Amino acid sequence: MLILGIETSCDETGLALYDSARGLLAHALHSQIALHAEYGGVVPELASRDHVRKTLPLLRELFRQADTPPDAVDGVAYTRGPGLIGALLVGAAIGRSLAWAWNVPALGVHHMEGHLLAPMLEPEPPNFPFVALLVSGGHSLLVRVDEVGCYHLIGESLDDAAGEAFDKTAKLLGLPYPGGPALAKLAEQGDPRRFTFPRPMTDRPGCNFSFSGLKTAALHAWRGLEPTPENQADVARAFEEAVVDTLAIKCGRALQTTELDRLVVAGGVGANRRLRERLRELAVARGGRVYYPRLEFCTDNGAMIAYAGWRRLAAGQRDDAAIEVLPRWPLDQLPAVLG
Ligand code: KG4
Ligand code: ZN
Repeated sequence: MLILGIETSCDETGLALYDSARGLLAHALHSQIALHAEYGGVVPELASRDHVRKTLPLLRELFRQADTPPDAVDGVAYTRGPGLIGALLVGAAIGRSLAWAWNVPALGVHHMEGHLLAPMLEPEPPNFPFVALLVSGGHSLLVRVDEVGCYHLIGESLDDAAGEAFDKTAKLLGLPYPGGPALAKLAEQGDPRRFTFPRPMTDRPGCNFSFSGLKTAALHAWRGLEPTPENQADVARAFEEAVVDTLAIKCGRALQTTELDRLVVAGGVGANRRLRERLRELAVARGGRVYYPRLEFCTDNGAMIAYAGWRRLAAGQRDDAAIEVLPRWPLDQLPAVLG
């Protein structure tokens, strides 16, 4: 079964062809970073317009890359939510129209389900059940995953998502959008002993997160300093240490309460080197393992949508012809996929 995946929920146009027998055949991505950089963040209207411009040319490139004709496609999966409504509508309209024209089924996929199944595209995928830490620009979730579609929320952020906290703190330090990777790079040169920021909510039970206070701690530290590269790096390092430590403590708790030893880490912040190292150590110490998507599939991409779409389309799920998106869509409300 050959599935076309279309991701347009935010600032990346991602397309992929996933074949159930041969695996990932091709993927193509256009990032809008340059477009939004001068505004310091994603401008939703510009994002939608750019998806309109880029999706079809990227689709042609995808078929060329895969050396496959469009009539070989057996189903279309597009991101239905959560995300920016205009951006989602572009992918949904194009996905549904292509499926209509090719006379194949189409299905709207949950963006975070895409992220959490992304490690399934790797040579050694995790077995179910596992605990998934999903850390992106819009979400910070800890989920117990029993099967595709069987998701039990263990913890979530009560305010900013981890990626959002990275981006806001980076902006405070004067770093260009998107701040997360820039802050992480700068933190490599920082002194980890100069500042210590709080580890929010680690002193109380449970697996929920709160990151907005960390951003404030960074603001207070930064306010009294000269804006030198050294000061920038030291604040960045303290912030990164605090986020990584907090996430590691909560992941440890989630593994303990579920009595599981497999941890999946996905979403843009999953590309963070220190977080990856720390969680690897944590899982190994518990006699388990941590699973990541390859770096390019930590952030938004079409491959994860094609894969998640395949799992559901192969089980007979499909949407009717209406073009509908869900900018807000709780992950634990998805139907299960058995088999
Ligand atoms: O999953 P993603 O591509 O988009 C959403 O669905 O939100 O995640 C993007 C987020 C951004 O907040 C970005 O700053 C953050 O992931 N990010 C990072 C790193 N790479 C991306 N944060 C920390 N360290 C990184 N290396
Ligand atoms: Zn994402």
